[in-house]
Amino acid sequence: MSVQARDLAVEFAYRFGRVPTVSRAPGRVNLIGEHTDYNDGFVMPAALEFATLTAASPRPDRRLRVYSMIMDETREFDLDSPPAVAAGDWSDYILGVALMLEQSGRRLAGADLVVWTDVPIGAGLSSSAALEVSCAHALITAARLPFEPIEIAKVCQRAENDFVGMRCGVMDQYISCRGVAGHALLIDCRSLASRNVAIAPNLRLLVANSMVRHQHAGGEYNARREACEEGVRLLSRTLRPIKALRDVTPDQLEASRRKLPDLIYRRCRHIVTENTRVLEAERALDAGDFVACGQAMNASHVSMRDDFEITCPEVDTLVGLAQTVEGVYGSRMTGGGFGGCTVSLIEASAVEKASRIMIDGYRIATGLEAEIFACAPSDGVRLIPV
Ligand code: GLA
Repeated sequence: MSVQARDLAVEFAYRFGRVPTVSRAPGRVNLIGEHTDYNDGFVMPAALEFATLTAASPRPDRRLRVYSMIMDETREFDLDSPPAVAAGDWSDYILGVALMLEQSGRRLAGADLVVWTDVPIGAGLSSSAALEVSCAHALITAARLPFEPIEIAKVCQRAENDFVGMRCGVMDQYISCRGVAGHALLIDCRSLASRNVAIAPNLRLLVANSMVRHQHAGGEYNARREACEEGVRLLSRTLRPIKALRDVTPDQLEASRRKLPDLIYRRCRHIVTENTRVLEAERALDAGDFVACGQAMNASHVSMRDDFEITCPEVDTLVGLAQTVEGVYGSRMTGGGFGGCTVSLIEASAVEKASRIMIDGYRIATGLEAEIFACAPSDGVRLIPV
């Protein structure tokens, strides 16, 4: 089902009897730079055409009433006496964002909201961030406050860290706030500065959903983060005090190899080498050297598979299939891991052939039906006309 802003406004008027504004926030695909964001490192995501829409209108009181068209469920909260703990469902993202906006000193108005999305849920394309950012934008619009993209990205990240309980970095919320059509963003997750990196018009980002669903909030993601923190602690003893793995070069890590348990060493090696690959990929895209960009992507996949151990046989199969096709420059898993999607940098003219080979080959290897989307980078959050 594809819902346009107008359909959403009609649903809203039917439920709440008023004409809403509609905020649109995109999901994302990450070209390269996985798990580097919470290590103060570099990432290079692009916003997608898949997005979450939030229709909203202020209320005279301090209540939030939210209807999800996808879940066909309504939730109500009082901003002055919110529940103390998360409910463990979709509404946590919205209430968490509202609470963190207030905690950041922004006084919200009550509001009625209707949410809808076409971002595949749990597929590693940031359905959570799209929901958080579209609701943040809608609530801020309803309260007539200024929308400051980077500040709001941080507030949404806090909602997920402190309310939902997923210790994510800032990449997904950042790109959903700041995405630029036709471009990926090179984000420095320490300074939070970013640079637009043009994706040539003859290229597509081919996203393939393995249909294997990841479970982030459940331990594996947080466990990877803890391993990185342990690496920082141990390396601070041997090198010099460091704040994050961002501060370690590949040579320094090699020199300290003996001081680290093998597992921690391999986790750190992924992060340290991935930062280098992101910057290589950026340089290659700027120079129009798509082959070099693709090589960095392929190497990133190997590092995620062997060192960080966040891939799974299904995504390895999809990546392997893509890498055999002429016109595909590089392919890797994208997102937090343990299933989800792959991204391939591909000539537009090769999309049809690659899709066919990937769908057929994947079915034969796994019995599963992959979903494939040829994406072009889109814009970050904004109001869209009703
Ligand atoms: C998830 C998190 C991000 C990032 C990626 C891995 O999408 O939300 O902050 O850590 O995983 O790169």
